Amino acid sequence: MNPFKYGRVVFDEDFCPRPELEKNLKNYISSAQNVLLEGERRTGKTSLVYQAVRGLPKFRLLYIDILEIKTVDDFCRRIINAVVSMERKSGMTEKLFKSLAHLKPSLTFDPLTGSPSLSLDASVKLKPGYIEGLMDLIEEENKKKKSVVVFDEFQDILNLKEAVAALAQLRSKVQFHTEIPYVFAGSVRNKMDEIFNHPDSAFFKSAVTLNVGELERDIFGDFLRKKFSKGKRRISKPLLDKMFDIAQDVPGDVQQFCGAAWDATSEGDNIDEDIIPTALELVFSRELKGYETSLSHLTGQQLRCLVGLARMGGKSPLSSEFINGTGISQPASVKKALNRLIKLKTIYRYKKEYKFINPFFKSWLIYKNF
Ligand SMILES: Nc1ncnc2c1ncn2[C@@H]1O[C@H](COP(=O)(O)OP(=O)(O)OP(=O)(O)O)[C@@H](O)[C@H]1O
Ligand SMILES: [Mg+2]
Repeated sequence: MNPFKYGRVVFDEDFCPRPELEKNLKNYISSAQNVLLEGERRTGKTSLVYQAVRGLPKFRLLYIDILEIKTVDDFCRRIINAVVSMERKSGMTEKLFKSLAHLKPSLTFDPLTGSPSLSLDASVKLKPGYIEGLMDLIEEENKKKKSVVVFDEFQDILNLKEAVAALAQLRSKVQFHTEIPYVFAGSVRNKMDEIFNHPDSAFFKSAVTLNVGELERDIFGDFLRKKFSKGKRRISKPLLDKMFDIAQDVPGDVQQFCGAAWDATSEGDNIDEDIIPTALELVFSRELKGYETSLSHLTGQQLRCLVGLARMGGKSPLSSEFINGTGISQPASVKKALNRLIKLKTIYRYKKEYKFINPFFKSWLIYKNF
């Protein structure tokens, strides 16, 4: 079985240890300090939270993922579902059912697993005023057993029309829940900054920041090489380094690349350089549809800018060298194209550099000679 896991939360033997981060996060949780967990996409924010809480048996995890919420109703339902899912692990409680009675809940049973789940009447629309009530419910839950409350992809709260009111309500409760550790995880830095570092925001400086960056190559490389060798494949450090370069050191993408290399090899193989094009082609074939969809959203100028970033890198896209290289005549047009590409979530800007969110898309543009 392919030992490389990606596109999902990893823990236990699939989690490459990050002792310093784990220790800090556990300490903050144990002292009920609220945490802002920041990092780029697929660096391991969610996995870190899971791993840390698994190491704290006194706590249980209330995990609320608010990715792509669009309305306050979505937001409230995500909270309720998270509470239900947490309670399900300890046996669905009558009390919870009663406290949600006004939302006309119904209990259904999964035909495969037999596990109960709660669904709410879709015609009931939850309004911003409801958030405080749900925060009180979280406080009640915490009295039963200590809970770590995680709001994942927290930046998406800014999608709400009523974002300011929703944040104010959340904050008004969070600040009095002094015994509950809250973790706010998010990946779109400037949006998380808007929430936590803007003086007008209700959450201004309300949490200590932990930055989840790349995994150190030496440690992660050893971790990955052990997985290869368990399947009787050998891979050298320099070759793995090349794979790290292509995957831009993003842990999820490095694992994906290793997974493809695994699929393209067999027991007893001594993996050599040829694996790079082979594994890349495998990744491309699996992701082709996504690349084509991304391209279909671009104008000619945006595409030229994107190809320029793939070929020349994203450190100085407003330099004359870059502009001449793309054939776009005006720096203002490049700027506009860059902003659009950020909006489309094709690239992101970090430390003054524009980078591809998906490094394999970048490799594909070069491979296809765009
Ligand atoms: N500590 C780790 N050890 C090994 N692999 C890891 C580790 N952390 C992350 N990964 C890899 O990254 C992938 C994504 O991890 P995770 O979902 O935790 O990241 P994330 O930062 O929450 O991502 P997203 O921004 O998409 O929510 C995992 O499936 C795994 O391949
Ligand atoms: Mg995540």
